[in-house]
Amino acid sequence: MQTIRFGIIGCGLMGREFASAAARWLHLTESRARPEIVGVCDTNEALMGWFSTHLPNLKQTTTDFRELLANPDIDAIYCAVPHSLHADFYPQIVAAGKHLLGEKPFGMDAGQNATITKAIADHPGVLVRCSSEMPYFPGAQRVIEFVRSGAVGDILEVESAFLHSSDLNPDKKINWKRIASVNGDYGCMGDLGMHVCHVPLRLGWKPSSVHASLVNRVTDRPDDKGNMVPCDTWDNATITGSVEMPGGTFPLVLKTWRIAPGESNTWSLRVLGMKGSALFTTKSPRQWQYMHYEAGGAQAWQVEDLGYQSLFPAITGGIFEFGFADAIQQMWAAFIDELAGGDARGFPCATPAEAADHHAILNAALASGRTGQVQDVEYSQ
Ligand SMILES: NC(=O)c1ccc[n+]([C@@H]2O[C@H](COP(=O)([O-])OP(=O)(O)OC[C@H]3O[C@@H](n4cnc5c(N)ncnc54)[C@H](O)[C@@H]3O)[C@@H](O)[C@H]2O)c1
Repeated sequence: MQTIRFGIIGCGLMGREFASAAARWLHLTESRARPEIVGVCDTNEALMGWFSTHLPNLKQTTTDFRELLANPDIDAIYCAVPHSLHADFYPQIVAAGKHLLGEKPFGMDAGQNATITKAIADHPGVLVRCSSEMPYFPGAQRVIEFVRSGAVGDILEVESAFLHSSDLNPDKKINWKRIASVNGDYGCMGDLGMHVCHVPLRLGWKPSSVHASLVNRVTDRPDDKGNMVPCDTWDNATITGSVEMPGGTFPLVLKTWRIAPGESNTWSLRVLGMKGSALFTTKSPRQWQYMHYEAGGAQAWQVEDLGYQSLFPAITGGIFEFGFADAIQQMWAAFIDELAGGDARGFPCATPAEAADHHAILNAALASGRTGQVQDVEYSQ
């Protein structure tokens, strides 16, 4: 089996998730290639010890990511650093000829995203994808198949949501994701927007205009020393887009909330149509719900337990549950499959074009939230 040698830039929360997914690659039964992590980089040297301890093939640790890019034994990079660094790092990664799975949002704002998009266009020899793992849950894949099969008919509404709740606690300490100069002015939308836009964009649902309600409920948070400092990012965003389709315009509701009481990490996708409707939520991770309707017939939702019916086959028995770490691994399997010449079994990771479109939506939503007006979405492509 082909081996693809990776370097990780950013050894935080997500850097570790990739290392864990790569370490249990034997979980997958039909992969064309496997990742091997040979180098890691973080400015916080203390974080690299975990990788040195657990990764037997790790040969390079550095605090300067350019040293990873200069390493001829690295084929591809996973970059998981704060948003303010994306527009500096991603162009340098592709210019070095390294394939890239970059973390969302692919730049802190639309201008930075344009810089990244241009750099990718200038280096067509590398494969670049944007991280977004939640659509790899089996139930999400079923909803996507349902839509692609034409079962929905004319669409009434689509709601795509990612709801977090830990910010309900006013005593939660501030971190870079809650500081606009590092996270970006999008706030919660920059953090969660790609997660809610990925599937709608993949299915061709591009809103031509949006209206956004933005909420900043907690304006100060304690820092490490207990001092209250400004928390200047949006907590919650509810965006309603207008999507024009042959069957008529429908509302696309995108919710990115950091303060959704009781929701620790709920990603959901609900499609309502005249012929069929479907729903997946990570609150019921092994199920999906759907309804077929014929004129005058019963309106009866069905619930199916899916278990572990993953896009990329795995050793886990079909009756068992699928979880977040599995979704991460499936996303990685999709990227590695493409790197090895495959088609990601029909569901590649989010593309740079989708990342650019999501910036167009968020940029319009930010303007709408500030003015209260409906805003046209200016797509660059
Ligand atoms: N796909 C997902 O579900 C998901 C979840 C969380 C975060 N993310 C994304 O992942 C990225 C990182 O988020 P995180 O939660 O892992 O953050 P994190 O703060 O846990 O990790 C970021 C790491 O980058 C390091 N870093 C900062 N500056 C650096 C530099 N100049 N060179 C090298 N390393 C540097 C930090 O020391 C830190 O260890 C962000 O883009 C975020 O949006 C994605």
